Order: sequence, then C-alpha cells, then structure tokens
Amino acid sequence: MLEEYFDDEDEEEMLDLVDIRTPEEVEMRMDDLVLTRDQEDEIGKLVKAIEHREYLARIGLREIGKLLFVGPPGTGKTSVARALAHDLDLPFVEVKLSMITSQYLGETAKNVEKTFEVAKRLSPCILFMDEFDFVAKTRSSDEHAAIKRAVNTLLKSIDEVSLIDDEVLLIGATNHPDQLDAAAWRRFDEIVNFPKPDRDMRSDILRVVTREMDIVDFDPNQLAEMTEGLTGSDLRLVLREAVLDALTEERTTLTQQDLEDAIANFEERDNLKNLDMIDGDADALIAGGTPGDGHDHDHD
Ligand SMILES: Nc1ncnc2c1ncn2[C@@H]1O[C@H](COP(=O)(O)OP(=O)(O)OP(=O)(O)O)[C@@H](O)[C@H]1O
Ligand SMILES: [Mg+2]
Repeated sequence: MLEEYFDDEDEEEMLDLVDIRTPEEVEMRMDDLVLTRDQEDEIGKLVKAIEHREYLARIGLREIGKLLFVGPPGTGKTSVARALAHDLDLPFVEVKLSMITSQYLGETAKNVEKTFEVAKRLSPCILFMDEFDFVAKTRSSDEHAAIKRAVNTLLKSIDEVSLIDDEVLLIGATNHPDQLDAAAWRRFDEIVNFPKPDRDMRSDILRVVTREMDIVDFDPNQLAEMTEGLTGSDLRLVLREAVLDALTEERTTLTQQDLEDAIANFEERDNLKNLDMIDGDADALIAGGTPGDGHDHDHD
C-alpha cells in the first residue's frame, strides 16, 4: 500500500518520521477497552460525524474531528486511538512530537509539514499525535527561533487539516494538559478526559483482560477494592505477573489468591520505584530487606 503512495526518495524520508499501520495491523479492539460514559459519548458522536460527513460539509459544519485525549499514563489514550482505527477501518498514522524534533532544529518545521502531508495522502486516516504537551514546553522556553517556527507550523497545519474536507481525523494525546497553552488547546473541538479508572471500571477492566483465562473463585469486585489508584495499564501488569508466577509452578489455572498476591507484589514494586536509592531506606537496599514504607503510591 505504501509503495503506491510514496515512490521517490524524498517521499520515503517522510515515512521515517511516522509509524503507519493498516487497520488490519492494529491489534487493539474497542471491545477490549473499558470506557467512561463520557468517552463513549464522544466516540459515538465521532462515528456519526464520519458516517454523515457529506451532510456536515453541506450544512457548513466543519469544526469536528480534532480530539485531544487528556490523562495520566496508562489510562488507554493510545489504545483507544488505535482501536478506533481498527473499528472504523482507517489507516493509523502515529507520530510522537518529540521524534519530529530533528537534531537539526531547522528541519523540525519541515518535519511537521511532512507529517501532515503523509496523513493527507493516506486519507481517509487517523493522525495520532502523541506527547502533545511538547508544544507547550517548547513555547514557554524561548529556546530557539527554529522551535518556535516549528510550533507555529504545527498550529497552522492543525488549522488546515480537516476531517470533513481531507478525511483526516486528528487525535492529540497528552499527560500534561496543564502545560498546554491556549493556542494549542483552542484548536481541538473536543477534549476527552482519560481519568484513572474508578472501582467499577477497574472491575470491568479485570473482567475484560481475564476473558480468556481460567481463574478459580474469581472475584473482580474484590480485586477492584484492593487496587485504588491503579490504571488499566497497571492492572494488565498485575495480571501478567500472576500468570507468569503460576507458570513457574506449571499452572495455567489461576486462583483469586494468585491475583491478590500479584497486587501485593505490584504495590511493593511501586514502592521501589519511589525509593531514593542514595539516601533511601537502608533496609530496602539490603538483600532480604523489605521495600521502604512511607513511600506510598499516591492514591488520588
Ligand atoms: N480503560 C482501559 N480498558 C482496558 N485496558 C486498558 C484501559 N486503560 C489502559 N488499558 C491497557 O493498558 C495498556 C496501556 O494503555 P495505553 O498505552 O493506551 O495508555 P496511554 O494512556 O496511551 O499511556 P501513555 O500516556 O503512557 O502513553 C494497554 O495495554 C491498554 O490496553
Ligand atoms: Mg500512549
């Protein structure tokens, strides 16, 4: 598919900047994801907008199809964007903003333009721009004229791309909405919040990720009670550990206890992450010691 669109060398260079997948290559499904009500509504609207694109163009409603996904790491932003590509049967063009910042800063604005060029050429498609807060960082630190130019090019490119006219659905994602300035924020028609999952969502996520597993006495509600503050990504890690631990005992059937143990281990691991390795708790730094307390995971 790509060779058809990008034949000469300069064009091949464009492809180094982005990661492109066909909808078949995307492994994520919307069915595998647990969404908040709000997320479901936004996605529902989007699906309708794409379906009735011509009608929207006719009545002159063009401010649609630019979404910003906002939330902490591991809350499903990338996964939802990919699942949309699969479910809407659209190619997925992914770019991390930090990656198109060329070591030759002067190239950065050009890289931004190339990225949008790729997306327009592959349209209809989804253009997923990760690490969007990068914009803000470079804006506030008046480092370099080249970076400012790149940021202005980015803002202008966003203005000039359209779901209705170019069939490019733009999705930005950020962990740091507070660092995004108004100029960038204003360019998205919908902000979709990706909060850490509440108890009911955690329970649903546990059900979804264990769909193909055998678990004796499985009680996702109880596990959800024990996992306040954990994200979908954390829960997947917990499950993986439980499965691997059982495998070391030659078991492929898990128990509720295995999962509870894996949660306890996860919290320990999380404490290690927050441990100061120089002045930190001496006990934890000696083999056989326990990871320090007083370094609680921030349950918010
Ligand atoms: N709501 C959810 N339902 C099901 N799985 C989830 C959910 N949230 C996260 N996950 C799982 O956690 C893993 C990480 O999610 P993902 O990479 O989409 O997070 P992210 O928000 O993009 O994180 P980052 O900000 O670090 O890029 C994926 O395997 C995903 O399936
Ligand atoms: Mg991500």
